[in-house]
Amino acid sequence: MSDLPASISLREVGPRDGLQNEAPVPTDAKIELIDALSQTGVRRIEAVSFVSPKAIPQMADADEVWKRIARNDEVRYSALVPNLRGAQRALDAGVTDLEVVVSASDTHNRKNVNRSTEESLDDIAALIEQVHAAGRPVQVIVSTAWGCPYEGDVPVERVLAVAGRAVRDGADAISFGDTTGMATPSRVTRLVGEFRSAHPDVPLNLHFHNTRGTGLANVLVALELGVSDFDASVGGLGGCPYAPGATGNVATEELVHMVEDMGVATGVDLAALIDVAAQAEQIVGRTLPSQVLRAGPRTRTVPLT
Ligand code: COA
Ligand code: ZN
Repeated sequence: MSDLPASISLREVGPRDGLQNEAPVPTDAKIELIDALSQTGVRRIEAVSFVSPKAIPQMADADEVWKRIARNDEVRYSALVPNLRGAQRALDAGVTDLEVVVSASDTHNRKNVNRSTEESLDDIAALIEQVHAAGRPVQVIVSTAWGCPYEGDVPVERVLAVAGRAVRDGADAISFGDTTGMATPSRVTRLVGEFRSAHPDVPLNLHFHNTRGTGLANVLVALELGVSDFDASVGGLGGCPYAPGATGNVATEELVHMVEDMGVATGVDLAALIDVAAQAEQIVGRTLPSQVLRAGPRTRTVPLT
């Protein structure tokens, strides 16, 4: 375990990826959640997405949320966008860190953003120019990187080709998204290894969903490969409560709990984060899947009876 990074940077995506997949919650509750997260030591928060309100009604209040969050200077707040229109909205709102998403699977990309993967990549090339002209960086998120709910396995070569095109077009960083929890450690090793060999200098972020229980195992192998940027959602927010088996991202407090005990610093105050996970449960009004939220940290003791 001596090769693990000394520290990692977590991006909290509960307010975006989590809440977009929950029943709509009031704007004030979103702001309270983001503000509470910003006090836990987490240094990156994906706060909103600037997408069509018809596509994702849960994000219709993104402008207001973005405006009203109480900024902590030590936190980088980011926004996800699906197209040029979203990027312009984000820039106009003063967003400094943007993520744009494209699916490696054509079918998923059409379902998500109504374009072929190729069309989205063309749009993204223009979007990167637009955002760079405003002096801001863009991370390109390649989703369905380990498989697609409609097409099944997505060939590694295709995922690498999509990421490679984005890099050539100027992406400042790449994130691979395991949109529906199809990654396993051996598949993570392969994709990360091949991406790293092809683009050793491009920052790489990973985004796992825990749909099939492999989330933390995937994080662990990625850590062993030296990856140090990960997404996670507080409480494991997300997934669709109406779709059997669908779950959210790896829970942030489970990730923190595991890696801190292995000597990998996250900067996050675990007790504070568990409190926010409990708050997230109140906000969405359902039990969240995080086991560390249920059981507490490993050193929690119970009264002797
Ligand atoms: N923000 C707000 N509105 C937007 C928008 C944006 N970024 N992009 C397009 N729109 C509006 C258009 O103005 C148009 O509005 P109108 O019907 O009132 O005229 C409408 O949406 C349709 O625009 P069009 O360009 O034809 O988009 P589309 O119908 O092909 O949808 C997307 C494409 C990308 C806008 C839509 O699929 C989307 O927002 N997807 C996001 C999905 C997502 O967030 N998934 C989760 C993250 S992985
Ligand atoms: Zn996701």
